[in-house]
Amino acid sequence: MLRSIIDQSQYEITRLIATGGMGEVYEAKQLGFNGFQKKVAIKTLLEEHAKNDLFIEMFIQEAKLAATLIHENIIQIYQLGYTNEGYYIVMEYVEGVSLHGLLEHLKRFKKEMLPTNLAVFLCSKIARALAYAHSREDDFGRLLNVIHRDVCPNNIMITVEGQPKLADFGIARAQNIGSIMDKSTSKIFGKLPYMSPSQAKMKELDFHADIFGLGAVLFECLSGEPIRKVDSLETLLKMAENGEVDWSLLPEDLKPEIKNLLKNMLSDKKVYPDIDSLAQELEMYIYRDGYGPTIKSMQKYLQKEMSILYNRNKMAESSTIRKPTEMKKIQNMATLIIDQ
Ligand SMILES: Nc1ncnc2c1ncn2[C@@H]1O[C@H](COP(=O)(O)OP(=O)(O)OP(=O)(O)O)[C@@H](O)[C@H]1O
Ligand SMILES: [Mg+2]
Repeated sequence: MLRSIIDQSQYEITRLIATGGMGEVYEAKQLGFNGFQKKVAIKTLLEEHAKNDLFIEMFIQEAKLAATLIHENIIQIYQLGYTNEGYYIVMEYVEGVSLHGLLEHLKRFKKEMLPTNLAVFLCSKIARALAYAHSREDDFGRLLNVIHRDVCPNNIMITVEGQPKLADFGIARAQNIGSIMDKSTSKIFGKLPYMSPSQAKMKELDFHADIFGLGAVLFECLSGEPIRKVDSLETLLKMAENGEVDWSLLPEDLKPEIKNLLKNMLSDKKVYPDIDSLAQELEMYIYRDGYGPTIKSMQKYLQKEMSILYNRNKMAESSTIRKPTEMKKIQNMATLIIDQ
């Protein structure tokens, strides 16, 4: 009976959503008995990574850990699988927009960046997600030291309901290995603006790396620019190693309280004893008058500023529905690696 339950599950790819650093992300349908369907997202691993044993080992290890994280602000991982065409991760499908997509949209079509209150709200939710992950323990009550390591606007999504969600938990560790192996690629270039000095120097990391990443995200939400804006990989790497931030990119009328908050988040002095205290500080700022932003206010904002998200017909027209190049149909008859 249990065997047949495993063998029945099947996925059908509906469209390619995007190509990221690790591979491709597809929208898919999980098919079940008697017409049952559930929308999921499937991330496949690029062939170039799949050849590296160390990378694969790390990828599997981290996916197993990430699968145990269940939090409203974390994109949930359902399964890690394998076919003869490669590894894939099945996860919660998010109908919405990545923070990177939203910031790009605001920069291109609107005059103003994300309102301060909403930016702080978004970061407070992600801080809570990180605090939950950082405090995870194993069965013996020992801290697992889960660190995201890749908190950036690409890895934050906002659902059409206005709920911020952090993606790619654990994947960065495997990805770091890829970057160490090939430091000259544009992959590390894109990540450098969000890296703490320790991470850029490839030192042993702790949760402060995620506080720094979140600080860089808040900075970008408010300024529309990454904390370091230079064209040369060498300069960017040096700036990251030294923890340099281009403070002149921030809007001049930014409240001093927020500027202080950013300075603390982007400091290499490890100002916060844990990310819970940061989350509390962010919440105290937005709710200082007794009430403040909620997911509803975020939803209203998206409806106003990015109405295309709520118009399914327009979305369907504007998105190129491409046939996936590989892995046309991923059948779940292969190994359920997570259970091993
Ligand atoms: N669970 C999901 N549901 C819906 N869309 C998703 C999901 N996960 C990712 N996406 C979309 O796919 C895009 C690519 O994601 P992916 O994680 O592969 O690349 P990335 O975040 O740009 O870079 P990196 O490889 O460094 O994480 C995201 O920007 C997002 O728009
Ligand atoms: Mg990602």
